[in-house]
Amino acid sequence: MMLRRVLAATGVPTHSCCMIPGVRILSSHYSRTSLIRTLSTMTTKKLIFAKHFDGEPKPSDFKLVEEKIPALKNGEVQFEALFISVDPYMRPVSVGKPLGHKMFGAQVARVVESKHPNYKKGDNVVGYMGWETHPICNPDTLESPFGALEKPLVLPDFKKLPLSLALGVLGMPGNTAFFGLTELCQPKAGETVCISGAAGAVGSLVGQIAKNLGCKVVGIANKKEKLDWLTSLGFDVVIDYKEEDVDKRLTEKVPQGIDCYFDNVGGEMSSTVLSHMNMFGRVAVCGAIAGYNAKTPPLAPMVQSAIVMNQLRLEGFFVQRWLGRWNEGILKNMGWVQEGKLQFREFVTEGFEKLPEALIGTMRGDAVGKALVKV
Ligand SMILES: NC(=O)c1ccc[n+]([C@@H]2O[C@H](COP(=O)([O-])OP(=O)(O)OC[C@H]3O[C@@H](n4cnc5c(N)ncnc54)[C@H](OP(=O)(O)O)[C@@H]3O)[C@@H](O)[C@H]2O)c1
Repeated sequence: MMLRRVLAATGVPTHSCCMIPGVRILSSHYSRTSLIRTLSTMTTKKLIFAKHFDGEPKPSDFKLVEEKIPALKNGEVQFEALFISVDPYMRPVSVGKPLGHKMFGAQVARVVESKHPNYKKGDNVVGYMGWETHPICNPDTLESPFGALEKPLVLPDFKKLPLSLALGVLGMPGNTAFFGLTELCQPKAGETVCISGAAGAVGSLVGQIAKNLGCKVVGIANKKEKLDWLTSLGFDVVIDYKEEDVDKRLTEKVPQGIDCYFDNVGGEMSSTVLSHMNMFGRVAVCGAIAGYNAKTPPLAPMVQSAIVMNQLRLEGFFVQRWLGRWNEGILKNMGWVQEGKLQFREFVTEGFEKLPEALIGTMRGDAVGKALVKV
């Protein structure tokens, strides 16, 4: 009955379903499921970037379209999206992007069909195929949202670990945490590392990596659930920046001062943290989420005195700087995950159509750990 409804919805006459080329209908549940999958892959769903964001992203900034999947050309690969990432960078990077195109972003996908020598049916990949359920692309010409050519990466065997981790601890956020901390902050055992946005995809990993390197760790986040999680991960001090006076808490709980600051947030709170830094402190400026939705740049107390007086070094970065060393970060993080020294948490929203909602939620701080959508 269910199968008939699906066939009817696809326009295939239910009485002629046995004649669909390449499809044999058996009575088992498995063959019914495969047939439904075969039929549903005739079309692909896309979320189009329809309107530039004005303040917070809104559901009406996106448009859902369904299109027939075209025939594959030489050099192209057809994928089936399994998980799609929602990330704060989408907000600032969207500025200036043309409208009417598929929303950009990374996904974990499976190869359905391939006319490219480096991809074969059944491979799992992570790549910037955007917000689409069954994207087709030529991997050699695929651009990342940051404007560089970036081929989808065929994933190694994740053993028992979930494939979705390729969007989190074993992917871009994991490498952001690893390289941003180790290369720019260069923490030494015994030093104190402070992290803002500490319960997010990147921040939660930075704190744990710093602990693995023998540092004391201070995490700044909002909401009890997040602070409790950070404490369970071994963070030495946690501060709720909305409920507590950050300056006072740092004075009380971190009298030794801060040697490294991994800043995901920016704004007033970061100015406060900088005023607690030690001589020759290092700051990795990873993100500025405090201002992403702002219509005018938020004002914060000036930081130059703290920078000069303590001879601080601040450096902004894009994780793509380490594309040439990508696997080094992934393998290091995978090792820690396997040893139980790098915990991950995923905040999964179910359903492709929920992508806009999931993005809006992550910008509001709804997610604990890595936010993603299971397609
Ligand atoms: N440079 C790079 O290459 C690179 C790569 C990846 C990410 N990033 C940046 O790194 C940051 C973290 O990314 P992510 O993937 O970890 O994001 P995430 O998982 O969404 O975490 C970001 C956290 O920021 C906090 N936040 C939101 N609005 C805030 C505000 N106005 N003030 C203070 N905190 C706020 C929220 O936590 P609370 O509820 O605790 O406030 C939220 O959970 C972002 O700024 C992102 O753009 C940079």
